[in-house]
Amino acid sequence: MSKHEDLLHMLLHADGEFVSGEDISRHLAISRTAVWKHVNKLRDMGYEFEAVSRKGYRLVTKPERIDAAALQLALKTTVFGRKSVMLSSTLSTQGDVQKLAEEGEAEGAVVFAEEQTGGRGRFGRKWFSPSGKGIWMSVLLRPELAIQHTPQLTLLTGVAVCRAIRACTGAQAGIKWSNDLLIAGRKMCGILLESTVEDHEVRYCVAGIGVDANFDTHDYPEDLQHIATSLKIETGQPIDRTALAAAILTELEHLYFLYQKEGFSVIASLWEALSVSLHRKVTITNPHGVIEGTTVGLDPSGALVVEMQDGHRELIVSGEVSWKS
Ligand code: BTN
Repeated sequence: MSKHEDLLHMLLHADGEFVSGEDISRHLAISRTAVWKHVNKLRDMGYEFEAVSRKGYRLVTKPERIDAAALQLALKTTVFGRKSVMLSSTLSTQGDVQKLAEEGEAEGAVVFAEEQTGGRGRFGRKWFSPSGKGIWMSVLLRPELAIQHTPQLTLLTGVAVCRAIRACTGAQAGIKWSNDLLIAGRKMCGILLESTVEDHEVRYCVAGIGVDANFDTHDYPEDLQHIATSLKIETGQPIDRTALAAAILTELEHLYFLYQKEGFSVIASLWEALSVSLHRKVTITNPHGVIEGTTVGLDPSGALVVEMQDGHRELIVSGEVSWKS
């Protein structure tokens, strides 16, 4: 057990009574300053303490966690989320679901983590995933799909999460191509779809969803403060992460089944209606270079159609879109 876990154990054991700083420091063999540092670490994780001089520290509330039983009650699905694994901390839920997939786990299985220590973003970036602040989840999909159609699943996931966030929190989230969710120009959710392929056919996909739910502005490192936001910041209300996670899985299953029955066109229409990146002059950066043009819509495969200045159109399947606000 690490020192802050030891400290938590002591305070939980005290059952809401004060434990003196001196007792803690003796029991954990650390200085009083170190006690204070570990208390603050627990505060960052969502625990609340009362600190009174000469009395010490008292645990007031524990952080709200994503709750397995409440999730099952709130789900309106037949498959998605019915097998859910809740972890306190993991490297990345993407890796955990990949492992489940390789062990033969069925479609719809989900791994949630309160914290990721090596959260992965698109283009090899890191995904900041502190404890208790977001929904860090990965879902196992086993679609019968040719590899070139996997971008459709990425767009589908973006639509599902966007609709769930709007319905559950009232926040006016929009989709920036291909699947960043923004509110008022700031990112509050990212989606990472990773596919494992054999003979040009998809064996399975892992849909990773990261929603910044209960961050306060000071929870973000400086480099994210001006580009990221959370649902709590935008709505002024703490977010019930269990309810939102259930809404995301319900919406995801609904659209996934619809897609399997009806094809991509209905998903494309929903995506276009929620998009904040269409009919704009944009710059797209991808490994092939930089493209400038006006976004027109999605083509039937799910690629972004961009019209160049000379009127010809290009199909973009990956990259980062930006525009001047
Ligand atoms: C992006 O770069 O916008 C995609 C971010 C995806 C983050 C989620 S959090 C849950 C899952 N586990 C990860 O390591 N990444 C995804």
